[in-house]
Amino acid sequence: MDYNVTVIPGDGIGPEIVREARKVMDKVGQVYGHRFDYTEILMGGCSIDAYGVPLTEEALETARKSDAVLLGAIGGNVGNSRWYDVAPNLRPEAGLLAIRKGLGLFANIRPAYLYNELAEACPLKKEIIGDGFDMVIMRELTGGLYFGERHTEEVDGVMTAVDTLTYNENEIRRIAIKGFDIAMKRRKKVTSVDKANVLDSSRLWRKVVEEVAKDYPEVELSHMLVDNCAMQLVMNPGQFDVILTENMFGDILSDEASMITGSIGMLSSASMNESKFGLYEPSHGSAPDIAGQDIANPIATILSAAMLLRYSFDLDKEADAVEAAVQAVLTEGWRTADIMTEGCKKVGTKEMGDLIAAHIN
Ligand code: IPM
Ligand code: MG
Repeated sequence: MDYNVTVIPGDGIGPEIVREARKVMDKVGQVYGHRFDYTEILMGGCSIDAYGVPLTEEALETARKSDAVLLGAIGGNVGNSRWYDVAPNLRPEAGLLAIRKGLGLFANIRPAYLYNELAEACPLKKEIIGDGFDMVIMRELTGGLYFGERHTEEVDGVMTAVDTLTYNENEIRRIAIKGFDIAMKRRKKVTSVDKANVLDSSRLWRKVVEEVAKDYPEVELSHMLVDNCAMQLVMNPGQFDVILTENMFGDILSDEASMITGSIGMLSSASMNESKFGLYEPSHGSAPDIAGQDIANPIATILSAAMLLRYSFDLDKEADAVEAAVQAVLTEGWRTADIMTEGCKKVGTKEMGDLIAAHIN
């Protein structure tokens, strides 16, 4: 089959890691007889440099017309980059929010699991790690605080900023359905995370999630308050299968979950709409300090490409092959600098991509 993939190299290490993911996809194409046509668009700082905005309408339209989107990373150093000397809606991150909203990508799937080979990098004690952990954070991505009405004004001589947090039942229902669907393919456990002891939006969240749960009698549902969840993640991460939560809680908890794997350079993510369309990106950022040095870890982006093959194109066996290739390369002891330990063999970004591509045959 032929597929059209929009590629967003982005900023910082984005272009280097995306290049390796394309290399791996092309190898998949060769071996399994598919053709991937790529169209590159600009987003983030590079788009600001070229057009003065982090995402143009044309770029968004290109993405909308394609079959799936592969993204590297966007943004620069907030402290010392001209990209941040402008209004918030013109900064690199605004491009990311705009593409999520513009393509209706309300479901953000972020897996966090411990690789046996990398267990030493896990910052948790051995007795807490136990048999390891393997969870997915299902984060609502186009509602809540990040998309609510906001403004800053002077009220009675005092500067006052307002952000609003709104969820309607439909927004909650559709993400809950995605959460339960993915739980059905895993260990059938959903932990819905909210702040129902304080927030109205959380109380509605809980009510709607319970309604959806009735359609999934095989799935075990529990509720957890977000502050407790932050604690449980470092106390007993093995208890989680699917964490289902709203936008801001998911933003924070997914960083925490990725950190405890000890290898954020390995974690992929998918952002999907109601159908099979999605945007796939590594969970890490653009790491401007190491850009262009051929030392960044391309594995999270390569695994994001595997998610793309699986979720948007239904190419399960091809996705399995990519994941198995990553596993094989790790087992052979190849490491980029961020996951390097004694006795392993250190390679750069390109070589890591070559090794993984070579294992697909
Ligand atoms: C993420 C990022 C973004 C978010 C920022 C850059 C707007 O932190 O993808 O988690 O909060 O969604
Ligand atoms: Mg985040």
